[in-house]
Amino acid sequence: MPLPPHTHTTQPPLQDRFGRQVTYVRLSITDRCDLRCVYCMHEDMRFLPRNQLLTLEETARLGRCFSELGVTRFRITGGEPLMRRNALWLFEQLGAQPGIEDLSLTTNGTQLARFAQSLKDAGVTRVNISLDSLQPQRFRRITRLGDIGKTLSGIEAAMRAGFRRIKLNAVILKHRNHDEVLDLTGFAIERGLDISFIEEMPLGLIGEHDRAEAFYPSDAIRAQLESRFELVPTIESTGGPSKYYRIVGEETRVGFISPHSHNFCADCNRVRVTAEGRLLLCLGQAYSADLRRSLRAHPTDDQRVKEAMVAAMDLKPRGHAFELGGTPVLVRHMNMTGG
Ligand code: GTP
Ligand code: 5AD
Ligand code: SF4
Repeated sequence: MPLPPHTHTTQPPLQDRFGRQVTYVRLSITDRCDLRCVYCMHEDMRFLPRNQLLTLEETARLGRCFSELGVTRFRITGGEPLMRRNALWLFEQLGAQPGIEDLSLTTNGTQLARFAQSLKDAGVTRVNISLDSLQPQRFRRITRLGDIGKTLSGIEAAMRAGFRRIKLNAVILKHRNHDEVLDLTGFAIERGLDISFIEEMPLGLIGEHDRAEAFYPSDAIRAQLESRFELVPTIESTGGPSKYYRIVGEETRVGFISPHSHNFCADCNRVRVTAEGRLLLCLGQAYSADLRRSLRAHPTDDQRVKEAMVAAMDLKPRGHAFELGGTPVLVRHMNMTGG
């Protein structure tokens, strides 16, 4: 197996038992958030003590090691990543690292008015912003604490900063916001943004609603959209779970993230690192490796950390184990992993 051109090491590249090449890493830098979205968190969430988190220096070191193993794309997630003090420093470090083709951020947008330009200057290419409703009261009910004005100003600031792509993320729940699919899409079209519609995933106990009852399949969303727009499938992919369509005559691409109705695991190119430094091989399974331990056991020897990364590839399962009924297979909430 030839090594990728920018690999400065004799390590094999990151390939799993099923021949999938890992080139994309999602780094969560905090489990905290200023919102409490009903599909993501329980109302009374306990967050990790700060001393259990990786330092930003350690996260930057992981970024360097991954990149030397052929990873070219990083996404910073949370919780809400911009809640982490000095988060910008990490973006600057990763943005300055050679060999990185794509540095992206997933955020709820509440602090983008303040940070968008600096993030762009640091080298961030793409930003994904959660927006589940355009109706102020409903937005508040879904996010429990959110003020839609802040998120909308954040979206505007991101547009002014000129990122390569901005994508809105809407988790669609039956009888909560399924009637806003067309309005949200219209909002994206008017601004030339992409939008993804996401099926809720059963991560952690949330208490607020029955996930099986709230399930609203991507096909129903697509049918709504096709009543107003002409959609054509595209082969564009971020290597991720989104299946994209173009709206004829518009800039906007519509993505569907459908872990229940359309499985996408066969093409999975990604792994994620939790805020505590646990390398998760799949969002929908528990397999993980403790990178924090490797980092701290070998503070100056990156080779050892890379060996741990390569060894962990054997743990990557064929696919997720999400089921809607009963107890979630996973106790961790989405804010632990950033998706
Ligand atoms: P790109 O692929 O980088 O464009 O981003 P994305 O749309 O995958 O990422 P984003 O952070 O915006 O997440 C959108 C939704 O996709 C969230 O609900 C994530 O949990 C979900 N998601 C991202 N990657 C995976 C994955 O590998 N498996 C599953 N099941 N869901 C994922
Ligand atoms: N299922 C699906 N998507 C979720 N998100 C958070 N929790 C869940 C869940 N349980 C979404 C957020 C954000 C993205 C990172 O993940 O809305 O857009
Ligand atoms: Fe915060 Fe995102 Fe979870 Fe909402 S979905 S509570 S914004 S981490």
